[in-house]
Amino acid sequence: MSRLRYIVGFFIILSGIFILSASGRAAKVKKTENSCVDCHSKLPSSSFVGVKSHDWKGSIHQKHGVTCDKCHGGNPSAMDEREAHAGVMGSSNPQSRVYYKNIPSTCGRCHGAEFYNFIQSYHFKKLEAAGKGPNCVTCHGSMVTSILTPDDIANVCDRCHNERIGIFPYVPQKAKAVLLLLKESQALITADKRLYHPAKGTKDAFYLEKAQSSLYSAKLEWHRFDLDAIIRHLQDVDDSLKNLSPNKLHP
Ligand code: HEC
Ligand code: HEC
Ligand code: HEC
Ligand code: HEC
Ligand code: HEC
Repeated sequence: MSRLRYIVGFFIILSGIFILSASGRAAKVKKTENSCVDCHSKLPSSSFVGVKSHDWKGSIHQKHGVTCDKCHGGNPSAMDEREAHAGVMGSSNPQSRVYYKNIPSTCGRCHGAEFYNFIQSYHFKKLEAAGKGPNCVTCHGSMVTSILTPDDIANVCDRCHNERIGIFPYVPQKAKAVLLLLKESQALITADKRLYHPAKGTKDAFYLEKAQSSLYSAKLEWHRFDLDAIIRHLQDVDDSLKNLSPNKLHP
């Protein structure tokens, strides 16, 4: 066992040396990993483009290596601005990947499940037909891709669902309540996981996994805007957690 670990460790060190030397060699050929990030990070914050570019820093996408070109296209290994921008278009150009109607499919390349639910929604049909309705960045922001707070979500819905326009004016408050509930369920699961951390295959592990999977379904239903379905999934979360064995508090 320990001999095996020794051998594995040896190979990890070997491959580390290989990667180091390989990247050292690559560095001589091209100076940067990603020319979009490199050049844009030097743009002044006084310009619109500069501000937008700096928004990306610190985002979950930056942490996972989702660089500018993944959403905007272009050539991230070209150092020259014009070459790099081949295929990159401003958001007002209907051909652009970030034109509002094209945003769902741009994001959907990586977030297939959310995309799949979203295209079944009434809002997507409205977006396709009339160019009206929320798209992914309405709720998540463009480069920051944050997760909305319940108050933020109410404001987003309120743009169209209000007394003045008159289409389902109850929606913002209901959406806020439902998102609060979703966040509570998430916090409960996290707390119970910490409290129980059950061994694999036990009854408690089963119910915690079941609760987690209902929570995931609830999140996906968000993208279909089916608030009642979300509530049903959150009820399932609750039911699963109730099945956990009476807890023996850890010291
Ligand atoms: C050598 C510097 C440089 C490189 C490399 C570069 N950009 Fe730019 N980019 C700029 C400058 C400067 C502007 C703003 C001036 C302008 O409007 O052309 C800009 C503008 C943009 C815009 C706004 C376009 C618009 O019409 O509103 C986007 C989007 C963009 N770049 C994305 C990218 C992507 C994606 C890459 C990599 C594939 C990239 N850039 C590579 C310097 C660069
Ligand atoms: C996860 C996808 C994604 C990533 C990654 C991303 N962007 Fe964007 N970006 C967008 C979307 C979507 C828009 C349009 C947003 C809108 O309509 O509000 C946008 C808008 C912009 C704009 C404004 C251009 C315009 O025409 O309105 C600039 C400039 C820009 N991005 C630069 C960058 C740079 C530079 C990076 C990398 C450092 C980057 N973006 C990374 C999705 C992304
Ligand atoms: C090239 C793949 C790729 C594209 C394109 C992409 N994302 Fe992501 N996104 C990721 C990865 C990877 C993560 C982090 C791991 C995860 O949560 O799956 C992530 C995470 C997220 C999160 C979770 C944030 C959190 O705090 O948990 C949101 C929201 C998100 N992306 C929205 C978007 C939106 C909106 C777009 C389009 C404008 C987009 N993404 C485009 C790969 C992508
Ligand atoms: C009506 C607002 C809204 C729209 C429009 C929307 N989302 Fe979301 N999204 C949410 C909410 C609310 C959550 C769950 C927030 C939480 O986890 O607290 C979420 C969560 C996510 C997550 C994280 C899921 C996880 O496992 O934690 C991703 C990724 C995501 N959305 C992608 C997208 C994409 C892609 C689109 C467009 C096709 C989109 N969203 C459109 C509101 C929206
Ligand atoms: C850009 C405008 C716009 C925004 C923003 C918007 N909606 Fe809507 N929504 C509409 C329109 C238009 C309808 C359809 C009204 C009708 O049937 O005549 C609609 C319908 C609905 C319906 C009823 C759908 C059905 O299948 O009958 C729900 C639920 C809903 N929206 C929830 C939301 C939520 C939740 C938000 C915020 C996260 C939101 N909407 C944001 C425009 C919008």
